Amino acid sequence: MHINGKVFRTIWFQDNIVKIIDQTKLPHKFVVKDLKNLKDAVNAIKTMEVRGAPLIGATAAYGLVLAIIEKNDKSFLKKASEDLIGSRPTAINLKWAVDRMMEKLSRVNSNDILKIAISEAKNICEEDISFCKNIGLNGLRIIEEIYKKKKDTVNILTHCNAGWLATIDWGTATSPIYHAHQKGIKIHVWVDETRPRNQGANLTSYELNEEGIPNTIIADNTGGILMQQGKVDMCITGTDRTLSSGDVANKIGTYLKALAAYDNKIPFYVALPSSTIDWNLKNFKNIPIEERNSEELSHIEGLDENNKLTKILIYPKKSKAMNLAFDVTPAKYVTGLITEKGVCEASSKGLKNLFK
Ligand code: MRU
Repeated sequence: MHINGKVFRTIWFQDNIVKIIDQTKLPHKFVVKDLKNLKDAVNAIKTMEVRGAPLIGATAAYGLVLAIIEKNDKSFLKKASEDLIGSRPTAINLKWAVDRMMEKLSRVNSNDILKIAISEAKNICEEDISFCKNIGLNGLRIIEEIYKKKKDTVNILTHCNAGWLATIDWGTATSPIYHAHQKGIKIHVWVDETRPRNQGANLTSYELNEEGIPNTIIADNTGGILMQQGKVDMCITGTDRTLSSGDVANKIGTYLKALAAYDNKIPFYVALPSSTIDWNLKNFKNIPIEERNSEELSHIEGLDENNKLTKILIYPKKSKAMNLAFDVTPAKYVTGLITEKGVCEASSKGLKNLFK
């Protein structure tokens, strides 16, 4: 998609260096950062210079490429894979990408390993782009149905950033929005700010602006009243891990939005590539929920009057804070899953029908 009219992807490989858009600086500064070794890749995932389930998977895949460039040695690679998987716990794409790479690399000799690792990391990225594009085409049909009935602007609420910045291109939740916009359907997006890291305000709104899609940032608790007032036609969110039961882990606050949508009979869709499905875990209570540093709550960063990025404390100095990064929305509150293969019921039957 575009930044300042120029086409970008979120990650690319050039001259043995991994290039990323440093998302901790957006929307105020556009910085392309070099990841030169395994430590850089692990750090980029941990500090959320890259974030979003598919993008951290792709970064981990390239992290293994960087590890091989650093030291072409089996035990170093194994330790690298563990470090990468351990860098963030909730999004299953991270483990999925590392396992896929390691499986591929287990069958090659050390002379070929770098070439094959680069090619597999590229495949992961290309596949994600085509999956996200298909998610867009499949989700487009739902938006078209609403537009046909309403004959006026379709208001879509989204939470966190599940846009192209969370993937390689297109995004998951935003892909149907981009496709609808390109077809001339009038769209307006309610963008949940998404405290504490403000991925909605800083990333979703930013990328929608760059594509010329009307959007309004709202505080996270505003969605409920907007739904009661009939100002939301549908919700679409992304997910970091969807179980085969259809239960969906996503950014903290998604569950409450799904409850409000359910109460107001508003369709609540979740968009995901199949790399986000955890076919093994049975009980959603066993999904590891990341707890991040409470400083993300107590401090806030923005531009000061001299246009300098500045961090300030906004809580009482003595107060404790707790920062859970994800929650789980049980399948019964999810109207449907929009995947690269089609839209299905959020249930094991629905998923099995699509992914035989
Ligand atoms: O903490 P983040 O920013 O990595 O969380 C991202 C999300 O929760 C997204 O909704 C999710 O990864 C969707 S996948 C495009």
